[in-house]
Amino acid sequence: MGSNPAVLAQAVALLQQGELVAFPTETVYGLGADGSNPAAVAKIFAAKGRPADHPLIIHLPGAAWMEQWAKEIPDVAWELAEDFWPGPLTLILKKQDWVPDAVTGGQDTVGLRVPGHPVALELLRAFAQVDPRGGLAAPSANRFGRISPTTALHVQEELAGRVALIVDGGACQVGIESTIVDLSRGGGEILRPGHISPAQLLEVLGDGFAPGVDRGLEVLEAPRVSGSLASHYAPSTPVQLVGDLDGPGRLADAVAMAVAGVQAEAGRVVRCGVLSYRARPEMVLPREWRCEWHLVPADPAGYARALYGALRALDHQGLDVIVVESPPETPAWAAVWDRLRRAAYRE
Ligand code: TXA
Ligand code: MG
Repeated sequence: MGSNPAVLAQAVALLQQGELVAFPTETVYGLGADGSNPAAVAKIFAAKGRPADHPLIIHLPGAAWMEQWAKEIPDVAWELAEDFWPGPLTLILKKQDWVPDAVTGGQDTVGLRVPGHPVALELLRAFAQVDPRGGLAAPSANRFGRISPTTALHVQEELAGRVALIVDGGACQVGIESTIVDLSRGGGEILRPGHISPAQLLEVLGDGFAPGVDRGLEVLEAPRVSGSLASHYAPSTPVQLVGDLDGPGRLADAVAMAVAGVQAEAGRVVRCGVLSYRARPEMVLPREWRCEWHLVPADPAGYARALYGALRALDHQGLDVIVVESPPETPAWAAVWDRLRRAAYRE
C-alpha cells in the first residue's frame, strides 16, 4: 500500500518537532518518535504508560544507517541484514556512545531494525532526509501490557488523544512483533521469537548460534528480552489455553470443561469465547452457555496475522473467559505459543 504524500510530510514535520506519530510496520503498528531526541522519546513512555527502563527498538530506512547507532558490528549482523531486512528481525548490537539512555534503558546495547512495510520505509526515508541519524524509536503502539495493534483503528482505540498523528497503512501482514536476536555478546541468541525462525537464523549464524533448530521450542520457555513481563500482550478478559486435543469431540469437551470451571468459580452462568483454528464442532454444550466461536487460520503465519485482532475482538465482547485451543507444539508455532502463553498468564 502506498501512502499519501501530504500525510507523510505532516508526519515528518511532527517527528522533527519532537511529537509522536504512529505508523504501520509489517509486524504491528509502532508509536514513533525521533530516536535521537530524548524529550521526544520520553513522550513515548508517557503515552504508553511504560516503565522508563524498558529499551526501545530504533527503526532505520536501511542497513547503511546501522553504523550511526551501533559500533563493533559483527559480520553476521551485516549478513542477517542482507538476508532479512527490510523485514521482521531486530538486532541487538553495542550502541554508539551518543545514543540516549532513554532509548536503551541505560544499557550499552541498542535494538535496530529496518521494517518491511512500504509506508514505514517511505516515512523513514523522508525522515532521514531531514535528520541524518535517520532513526525512529518505536515500540508497539499500545498502552503498556496490552495487545499490540495491527490496524490503525486499534491504535486509535489504544492511544487516541496521546499521539499527534496516526498514519494508516492497512492491516499488518505478519501480525506479531519482530524476532529479536542479541548479537552484542558474541554468537547470537533469540530474545523474542517471531516470524523469522530459529532455522532461518541458524543458516546465517551457524555454530555461534545458541538456540539450535532441534531445540527450537526452548525459546518458548524463557523469553529473556530484558524488561519483558510474562503478562505482556494480555487482553483484559481471562484467557485459558486448552490442549492435547485430537479431533473435534475432544475440543468440545475441553471447552466445556474450561467453561464449567469458570462457571463454578463465578457461581453463575458465564459467557465464553473460543479462539480456534478448527470450525466450531457440532458440540453439545448446555444451551445457556453462550459461546462466541472465533475461527483463525490453521497455519502458523496465518494464525499469527489474525491473532491480535481476534483477541481484541473477543475482548470487546464482555466475555467471562476466552478459551484458546493450543496449537501444535512444534518449532513452527514457537512465536505464536510465546504470545499465547503471555496472553494466558495471570499473576
Ligand atoms: O515488531 C516489532 O518489533 C515492533 C514494531 C513496531 O517494530 N516493535 C516492538 O517494540 O515490538 P516493543 O517496544 O513493544 O518491544 C521491543 C522489545 C522490548 O521487549 C525490549 O525490551 C526489547 O525489544 N529491546 C529493545 N532494545 C533492547 C536492548 N538493547 N536489549 C534487549 N532488549 C531490547
Ligand atoms: Mg510491545
